[in-house]
Amino acid sequence: MGDLDVPLEQEMGKEEPVCDPESMGSEDMLFMLYTSGSTGTPKGLVHTQAGYLLYAAVTHKLVFDHQPGDVFGCVADIGWITGHSYVVYGPLCNGATSVLFESTPVYPDAGRYWETVQRLRINQFYGAPTAVRLLLKYGDSWVKKYDRSSLRTLGSVGEPINHEAWEWLHKVVGDSRCTVVDTWWQTETGGICIAPRPSEEGAEILPGMAMRPFFGIIPVLMDEKGNIVEGGNVSGALCLSQAWPGMARTIYGDHQRFVNAYFKAYPGYYFTGDGAHRTKGGYYQITGRMDDVINISGHRLGTAEIEDAMADHPAVPESAVIGYPHDIKGEAAFAFIVLKDNAGDADVVVKELKAAVASKIAKYAVPNEILVVKRLPKTRSGKVMRRLLRKIILGGDLGDTTTLEDPSIITEILSAYQKHRGKQAASK
Ligand code: PRX
Repeated sequence: MGDLDVPLEQEMGKEEPVCDPESMGSEDMLFMLYTSGSTGTPKGLVHTQAGYLLYAAVTHKLVFDHQPGDVFGCVADIGWITGHSYVVYGPLCNGATSVLFESTPVYPDAGRYWETVQRLRINQFYGAPTAVRLLLKYGDSWVKKYDRSSLRTLGSVGEPINHEAWEWLHKVVGDSRCTVVDTWWQTETGGICIAPRPSEEGAEILPGMAMRPFFGIIPVLMDEKGNIVEGGNVSGALCLSQAWPGMARTIYGDHQRFVNAYFKAYPGYYFTGDGAHRTKGGYYQITGRMDDVINISGHRLGTAEIEDAMADHPAVPESAVIGYPHDIKGEAAFAFIVLKDNAGDADVVVKELKAAVASKIAKYAVPNEILVVKRLPKTRSGKVMRRLLRKIILGGDLGDTTTLEDPSIITEILSAYQKHRGKQAASK
């Protein structure tokens, strides 16, 4: 044993087995959780005692139809907001039995979730679409092997759930008899804000839609000029027009940043960063982020964070990262990098960049693809046009390119991208 090692039993022996509860003010800090925005360093969002606990508990009970004696199975990591609100605080406030899951959905095999449901008689199962998309590729037999008759509610969180994944959850996992709830919320909101429940008995639930605002949540859609969009079959920036108990109170150490990030774009309203569509029937469907935030396997990341992690490499003066649709991850990162003239072997640099992102952020943040370009497309005012890069990858109309500093860059990047594709096809 080294000098720095201390026997755990010895240290534990010094502590009391019982800890007296401490009275707290309702607005005292309960916890702080870091999350990504479109600019700058991650924000430490502060949640407080009473409002957060109330909101986590009420949403847990009503969205999932949690009844006394039920076993609640949220398979999210406790370190994220979903784990905070729906593994720990919400279920425990309601006296529920809460399952702690610490693994991956495919270890030791693709039946792991359903074996856990059978063994623990789980009544509500709550997970991420990215896991559903992965599991459905393994086939139905892994699900059918296990008894899932205890299940009543199946919840989805963190990213849009596509129809195929929703239908699979409903038909295969839930045997067409469970209620599927697609729940929309954020680290900032503390708990679920839009979800199919509560609803009147027998009310319709549509695939891939969060649908109804929770009690106290008043969503509005804004157009580009900041006017409220009324009626049905319309889209806009999703804002919430009234405070609710679970909302974050500040960004730790920087209240002005909190005000600027959430309340400046549409004065008097909380701006979520998401776009949404409201159907004729008045239901909400989230259409995705409107800023430079991407969602890889349910992990929220600012593209700037990935760029920052690559910026320390001495051979890479500039980079631009965008998100693009990915079958299983939902979105994946694509990085465009510029190399210095004396950078040496590009393949080596690419490998080093991947390692840098994995160690500075996490493995899931590593770009799926890294393309070396001579320069990045910029406006005359020097802003990188990520929108154009996205169009180059996804195809389709490039849109307005008149603000580009040098329009010839489009053919330059397109040809680099096509070469990259050709190289990839040849290596398969
Ligand atoms: O873009 C939305 C997406 O995830 C973002 C919030 O990420 P985070 O703070 O990490 O919290 C994730 C767990 C609550 C949102 O701005 N998002 C979350 N739920 C959904 C969703 N997008 C579509 N449908 C959802 N149900």
